[in-house]
Amino acid sequence: EVIEANGQVLLPGFVDLHTHLREPGREDTETIDTGSAAAALGGYTAVFAMANTDPVADNAVIVDHVWRRGQEVGLVDVHPVGAVTVGLKGEKLAELGTMANSQARVKVFSDDGLCVADPLLMRRALEYSTALDVVIAQHAEEPRLTVGAQAHEGERAARLGYTGWPAAAEESIVARDCLLALHANARLHVCHVSTSGTADVLRWAKDRGTKVSAEVTPHHLLLTDERLATYDPVNKVNPPLRTESDAEKLRAALAEGVIDCVATDHAPHAVQDKDTEWTAARPGMLGLQTALSIVTETMVRTGLLDWRGVARVMSERPAEIGNLADQGRPIAVGEPANLALVDPDAEWTVRGAELASIAANTPYEGMRLPGVVTATLLRGRTTARDGKIC
Ligand code: NCD
Ligand code: ZN
Ligand code: ZN
Ligand code: ZN
Repeated sequence: EVIEANGQVLLPGFVDLHTHLREPGREDTETIDTGSAAAALGGYTAVFAMANTDPVADNAVIVDHVWRRGQEVGLVDVHPVGAVTVGLKGEKLAELGTMANSQARVKVFSDDGLCVADPLLMRRALEYSTALDVVIAQHAEEPRLTVGAQAHEGERAARLGYTGWPAAAEESIVARDCLLALHANARLHVCHVSTSGTADVLRWAKDRGTKVSAEVTPHHLLLTDERLATYDPVNKVNPPLRTESDAEKLRAALAEGVIDCVATDHAPHAVQDKDTEWTAARPGMLGLQTALSIVTETMVRTGLLDWRGVARVMSERPAEIGNLADQGRPIAVGEPANLALVDPDAEWTVRGAELASIAANTPYEGMRLPGVVTATLLRGRTTARDGKIC
């Protein structure tokens, strides 16, 4: 098969360190099948499926099911993330070693959608992770500072009557865990960085030799708490949309490398869980099929990253952080390639109902966005082409 690629950009297939695929438990909102399709259409060749499923992915049976199901679907490598604790807000460490050595070969353990607030538990997880050569991905929220929180703490939330979610909830736990990781000589990955202060903490920690990496979501690069004025829960997300000044500093930190990569935090939700009043609505938004376009808009069109830089933040760094040897790098002659082909000048209009996900909770509904993924190849096989699954 010959793919005509005049004027297009060829990148290593994208790697998403942070995807919620909702299987098992909420197959009414997303399955490994539909989520893999969304990923392939978005240019991804590997995704890390978060552990806050029902039941929680805290044991080898669940992670192996997720891995095998991903291979059966065959559109993208689905790497299960193991839960750090038994159960969502567990007080006991899960058997990290059993999952790391299972068929799924779990490489990332996370507390996402929950929080390891207990420093002793976090320290033990970091110590185990060093021995197993895996990474602990921290959801980065001190839960005792976000009780009842509904939106970024600031003038806007106050005016609209929402309980504030302080920047310090994120910054304090990132600082804590950077120090714990430094002293344990462990690798820490910080999920969905949302404040400029967190970027400062990361810079400080990296300067001191902490093995810390961090991700930012497309929505925190583009959207701000200005969106709150609409009262539309499609904009409700953890952590909350912050200020324009935060978004600006996050874009700069990503360009500089203080934030290593982009991760979607793709979080499908059912209509009845989203299309309700703000306080009752679930947090989270779709991200897999729009990530490249948002990065094009916020990072490429602004001159903050060239396409080489996009390969770094969308493919290379996430593959390195997730310990994937076969992803995110140039290929040798004759080696089956993981690739994403992008038309940088083309534009498209986002329609939630037309996305491959079962859920339709996109905050970009009706927006015209630049950057179109025209083909995705997984180990040399075309998985998506011109917006269609192959
Ligand atoms: C995520 C979810 O829905 O699972 N929601 C979100 O707002 N990001 C959980 C999470 O990433 O914290
Ligand atoms: Zn989270
Ligand atoms: Zn957490
Ligand atoms: Zn998440």
